[in-house]
Formats: sequence, structure tokens, C-alpha cells
Amino acid sequence: MKATEIARNVYWVGAIDWNVRSFHGYSTPRGSTYNAYLIKGDTNVLIDTVRRPFFDQMVSRISSVLDPKEIDLIISNHVEMDHSGSLVPAQDLTGAKILASKRGVEGLALHHEGLEIDSVEDGQELRIGDRVLKFIETPMLHWPDSMFTYLVEDKILFSMDGFGQHLASSKRFDDEVDKDVLMYEAAKYYANILMPFGGQVLKTFEKVKDVEIKMLATSHGIIWRRDLNSIINAYLSWAKGETKEKAVVVYDTMWGSTQKMAEAIVDGIASEGVETRPYRLSDSDRSEVMRDILEARAVVVGSPTLNNGMFPSVADFVIYMKGLRPKGKIGAAFGSFGWGGGAVKALRENLEKAGLTLSFEDLEMRYVPKEEEILKCFEYGQKIGKEIKGS
Ligand code: FEO
Repeated sequence: MKATEIARNVYWVGAIDWNVRSFHGYSTPRGSTYNAYLIKGDTNVLIDTVRRPFFDQMVSRISSVLDPKEIDLIISNHVEMDHSGSLVPAQDLTGAKILASKRGVEGLALHHEGLEIDSVEDGQELRIGDRVLKFIETPMLHWPDSMFTYLVEDKILFSMDGFGQHLASSKRFDDEVDKDVLMYEAAKYYANILMPFGGQVLKTFEKVKDVEIKMLATSHGIIWRRDLNSIINAYLSWAKGETKEKAVVVYDTMWGSTQKMAEAIVDGIASEGVETRPYRLSDSDRSEVMRDILEARAVVVGSPTLNNGMFPSVADFVIYMKGLRPKGKIGAAFGSFGWGGGAVKALRENLEKAGLTLSFEDLEMRYVPKEEEILKCFEYGQKIGKEIKGS
């Protein structure tokens, strides 16, 4: 397999995972890539590795440029296994010294017993022949250990999980792929991986504001070399929690009653001229729903009562969303029950814990909603629509 030269003597030597469809609970219908990079020079440097099953693919690409034994140094920007999984065989093969952040050394020691690693400081520079690497700690993007590595002369920022997308492609650069697909996958990645860390994203932008960047060489998906502004501006907006006049209505249904309520609420919101997107969870993927929630101003969640609590698919979704801590969004809870309620109360508690602002009364109905109750749902949607427009 061949390497791709992305700048003079800088090569992409990663792996394309065409078949992965789930990434720790996040659906990846377009697959992914694990990007590793090789800098060839007086000191040959490998930046990150790949998921363990793809080690041979990485070695094959490296071998198209140089003998892997000539690698002197491996930089580990992030300890998560999709990037560090091949560090042990890579060190065995190359005998190279491994560098990571202090927290990275700590994390890698837990993951990979016996690995010899040295730590680098935040802001430290390292001369590699005629070029210089600079290390920039970026805690929580995506784990506490994470760091960027900047290749000073070429102005390439190896940005690890930052700006990535789960997108397998035979192309490597942003100007070679469909822009809408690229931004869709970048948004889905941010919503499902980085949403809880908006504050740290903003701090990182502040930290690198004087760094001139010509290329964002991410650890997943496509490398940004042409339209860096679109992804940087999108990250700034997402990190600030900026939203549009849009509502996402997420629900599931047992015998159709909660669905009738959801449909009337959606109609009510839309009647105010607000974009609305319903998702029935039994037919929807939670990571796709989160992508839509990223830019939505309101999240309206509905559940039938099952065993005095939330319907399982709704509980799954709410727990997932709670972990992603959406910011600055309006929330509302609704649902139906037969004999004894419970789902809507549990929903409210969990939506509040997820950080949503619930300023409306909950809407709960018994058995199949009648015509006047459907009207009540429509009016409830209208109130939500007005609130979205007013905020
Ligand atoms: Fe792609 Fe946080 O690992």
C-alpha cells in the first residue's frame, strides 16, 4: 500500500476502515480512517499510529517511503486505542523513542504495559533536522492527555481528534470530497465526541490564535488544506453553543398515543415557522439525533410509560444525551400512560440533569389522545415555537 505525500517529505501513512459501523456506540455508516503521519528527514518521525488490526496497513504505507526501522521517533498525541493501539508493535519494529504529554505517558502506561515513553511539556519545541515540532497540550480534546503537534516550517497542525470526521474515503483532502457530506460528518463527530468540551475548545482556539495554520491534519477522516475557515468557524459556533430557530422532537411510542402527541406538537412548532425534525427512536440512531440537536434551540422529548418509568429506547437516548451535556437549549417533556404514569416525571428529571432549561409544564395524557387533547398538543407546540423565536 502507498503513502500519500501531503507536503514536502510529510506523508499520510494511516489506515482506511471501510467497514466499521459502530464506534463506541456512535454509528459510522460511512466508515472511518485512523490517520498516522510520517515526517521524513534527518530524524524520521511517525505521528500517531492506528487501531491495532490496521498495523500491517500502516507499516505497508510507511514502507513505500522508507524502511520502518529508520523511524527514530514516534509522537503519541492521544492515548485512545484507535491511535495508540499499534504503539507496542511499532516500537518493537522500529526501536523508536516515543514521546507523549505527561498525562499521555500516564495513560499509555495503563494501556500498554512495558512501553518506554518520554514526556514533553506544553509549548516545548523539538528540532528534527531542518524542521521543528512544537507540542501544544489540548486537555479534553478529547481526553485529558490530548495534545496537538505543530510542524513549524510547514505550518501543519496535527490536530488529533480535533476537526475529524468518521468518513472513509480514497481521497485525503477537503477539496477532493463532497463538501456537504464532509461538514455533515464533521458536525456529527463534534456532537457525539466533543460537545461536552465546548469550553476547552474555546480555550484551545485562544491558545493557538497566533499560530499560522495551512493544514489541519486530523486523526480521523479528511485533511483540511483548502477551506480551513469553514471548519474553524463551525467549531467556534458549536463550542459557543450557538443555535438556530429549530426544534428536534425525540420520542418513542408503545401503542401509538405518544406518536400522535409528537405529531401534533411538531405541527404546532412548525406552524410558528420554526424548522422541526421529529425522530421516533425505535427507527432512529441516537448519534444521528445528536447531530441534529447540535444546532437546535429546543429538544422536546416524549415517552410512553412502561413499568412506571421511561420507555427503554427513550431512557437510552436521554442517558446518552446527558453525557454529552448540550448547552443553552430549551427542553420539554411529554408522554402518555395507561394505568399509572411515571415516564414524564422521569423525563423531566433527566432532561434537567442533561442541562436543558424546562420552562413549560409537562404534557401527559392518558390512553389515546382525543381530538381536544390533540389540539392541546398542537398549542403546546405553538408555545414552544414562540419561545424558540423569542430567545
Ligand atoms: Fe480518535 Fe479520542 O480518539
